[in-house]
Amino acid sequence: MLSSMPFALIVLLSIPLETLAVPRPLIPAAGQSVPLKRKAQVTRNESEWAEWAKSQRDAVMAKYSPQRKKRSTGVNLIVNQGLDSSFYGSVAVGTPPVAFDVILDTGSADLWIADTHCDSTCAGTGNFDPSKSSSFQNLSKVFDVTYGSGEAMGTLGQDVVQMAGFSVQKQQFGAVTATSSNFLQNPVTGLIGLAWQSLAASGAMPFWQALASGGYWDSPLMGFQLTRFLNDSSAGNLEPGGSLSMGFVNESLYTGTIDYQNIPNGQASYWLQAITALTVQGKSISLPSGAASYAAIDTGTTLVAGPSSGIQAIYAQIPGSHPGSGQWEGFYSYPCNADVVVEISFGGPSWSISPADFQFTATGPSSTDCYGAFYEIPTAEGSPPWIVGDTFLKNVYSVFRYDPPSVGFAALSETALAMNGANAVVPTPTIGADTAIVTANSATPAHTLGHLTLVISAIFGLLFLL
Ligand SMILES: *[C@@H]1O[C@H](CO)[C@@H](O)[C@H](O)[C@H]1NC(C)=O
Ligand SMILES: *[C@@H]1O[C@H](CO)[C@@H](O)[C@H](O)[C@H]1NC(C)=O
Ligand SMILES: *[C@@H]1O[C@H](CO)[C@@H](O)[C@H](O)[C@H]1NC(C)=O
Ligand SMILES: *[C@@H]1O[C@H](CO)[C@@H](O)[C@H](O)[C@H]1NC(C)=O
Repeated sequence: MLSSMPFALIVLLSIPLETLAVPRPLIPAAGQSVPLKRKAQVTRNESEWAEWAKSQRDAVMAKYSPQRKKRSTGVNLIVNQGLDSSFYGSVAVGTPPVAFDVILDTGSADLWIADTHCDSTCAGTGNFDPSKSSSFQNLSKVFDVTYGSGEAMGTLGQDVVQMAGFSVQKQQFGAVTATSSNFLQNPVTGLIGLAWQSLAASGAMPFWQALASGGYWDSPLMGFQLTRFLNDSSAGNLEPGGSLSMGFVNESLYTGTIDYQNIPNGQASYWLQAITALTVQGKSISLPSGAASYAAIDTGTTLVAGPSSGIQAIYAQIPGSHPGSGQWEGFYSYPCNADVVVEISFGGPSWSISPADFQFTATGPSSTDCYGAFYEIPTAEGSPPWIVGDTFLKNVYSVFRYDPPSVGFAALSETALAMNGANAVVPTPTIGADTAIVTANSATPAHTLGHLTLVISAIFGLLFLL
């Protein structure tokens, strides 16, 4: 499968680290040039020339040998939307680059952006306009991806895609013209799948995997810290959501060690983990072994879904719980004043979910019963029985490691915990359509992504092809 995939050209952008921390419009600066100066004539004897020749050759070999590729790291700040309903970051697409807010989804592997031709199902403003990108290529193939919560359709295209300071030339993605209703919540205009290529509906190499497999990251992994605002009655619709790091783990966001557990049987498609133990109020639930207890670790799913046997066993430990009905079929209610603590182990330590995350929402305006965040889904062919989403992930620092394929968790640091429910400025990855019309001439000096970098990118691109 890999060998039939189009080759993505990847380059690192020379953006200083401090500018990487804040998602912002990537605006090309005016063309830059370096003045040339003539050097004084060099006179060398024979042995000096020989030494010079060797050093030149060594330098070129070092620069272009695969092991000595320039490696780097980057960060994308996340926005928490709708009281922990979804977590989005930003990508920039095209030439000139335009930024789009995209759901960060470790539970799927396709990238797509709503196209300007998208029908009323797309959120409206700031959609991708292929006609405004000089580097866009229409691959004229149908793009159609189905999720648990909806569907997105359009055509497959390719263009330069940038995120967290990294750039992938010829990244394939869906230019989407229809989604199922309410899929996109303004300002979100798309989704970036951060799972493995074998899961991609388009078959395209995912952005993250192109970077990780190409050796462009200092460490072949991504780190997530996600914030909690669910139990903060003064929270707004958009709040700071934490961060996604590429190529490194941010040591100030966790304490202790990261416990890595391999993806079972090397089946890298979802970020799979086997649930080996699960307790409710300290009592353990009996779980089948092996594939019947596999879970997809999924930043793009709000809650935790599981097979009815497991979910029933969980609520059996919570006095006063009842199955929901109608729209709430598959959910369970329980008395809001119960502090429910669920702990999950994936083969290593037990990770505890706070009662604040277990308590999803009240069953009615003045009700003393609440729905829990764990709900039943029917088992489906090809899908893992458990989907472990943000309800769990808000309680740990999580790491998605390319090599060896594994998922790691660590306890959140005080610094990370202090961001939960905190009043702070919401990162502004959204720049909307206006940026599309920013030209090189009107660029401000503050932006360091210059034409120079794009030219260098192009040269590297050529070297890759040779
Ligand atoms: C070349 O120049 C270096 C330094 O000036 C000197 O040490 C060396 O002996 C010279 N070699 C020859 C072959 O003339
Ligand atoms: C790509 O080309 C097809 C026709 O082959 C067209 O229907 C579609 O709208 C184009 N998509 C984009 C994003 O330009
Ligand atoms: C929300 O829940 C967390 C974890 O249980 C707790 O530390 C925090 O104080 C709660 N916040 C509010 C506003 O109740
Ligand atoms: C790591 O996280 C801390 C706390 O959020 C942040 O201040 C720092 O900039 C992060 N480091 C990097 C390299 O992003």
